Amino acid sequence: MSFEDIDSVLEIERECFKIPWTRNMFLSILSASNSHSIVYELDEIIGYALTLLRMDVIHIANIAVRRGYRRRGVGSEILSHLLHFGASLNKKKAILEVRPSNLPAISLYEKYGFYKAGTKKWYYPDGEDALVMERKI
Ligand SMILES: CC(C)(COP(=O)(O)OP(=O)(O)OC[C@H]1O[C@@H](n2cnc3c(N)ncnc32)[C@H](O)[C@@H]1OP(=O)(O)O)[C@@H](O)C(=O)NCCC(=O)NCCS
Repeated sequence: MSFEDIDSVLEIERECFKIPWTRNMFLSILSASNSHSIVYELDEIIGYALTLLRMDVIHIANIAVRRGYRRRGVGSEILSHLLHFGASLNKKKAILEVRPSNLPAISLYEKYGFYKAGTKKWYYPDGEDALVMERKI
């Protein structure tokens, strides 16, 4: 993901999330030296993910697929890429937060071996808790 991708990514972000990340949040993570962020492009950008690399952990901060392209394996390809990338850097663990109400995402993560590792209370701006999920890589 480059800075030029942000307009397209923001469009998908706003389509996907009830409290979307702002442009500044994307700018900040893209500017971070420890981030690895990707877009999935066909004729246009249809998906993306942002990660932060810390010690022996790859933290998946955001992953989304444009609505009209879901259930075709795009989310799986993105997640699989992130896990391989983490392994290539010798990271030991992948970790993420997800809304307990987000059953499609939880199902995707469980399919890829993530398990429920804990809860963060009042994690989201609307007060919903986050489920913490992780897996070894
Ligand atoms: C979660 C998301 C990224 C999945 O992307 P996708 O491209 O549709 O995923 P895939 O086609 O690779 O599906 C892989 C698996 O995810 C699960 N899954 C995906 N969508 C699902 C749905 N609507 N209901 C139940 N399970 C679902 C299934 O286990 C699926 O495997 P299957 O097709 O063999 O049943 C996508 O739904 C999305 O962008 N959602 C909005 C943004 C979001 O919530 N991101 C996660 C933030 S934590």
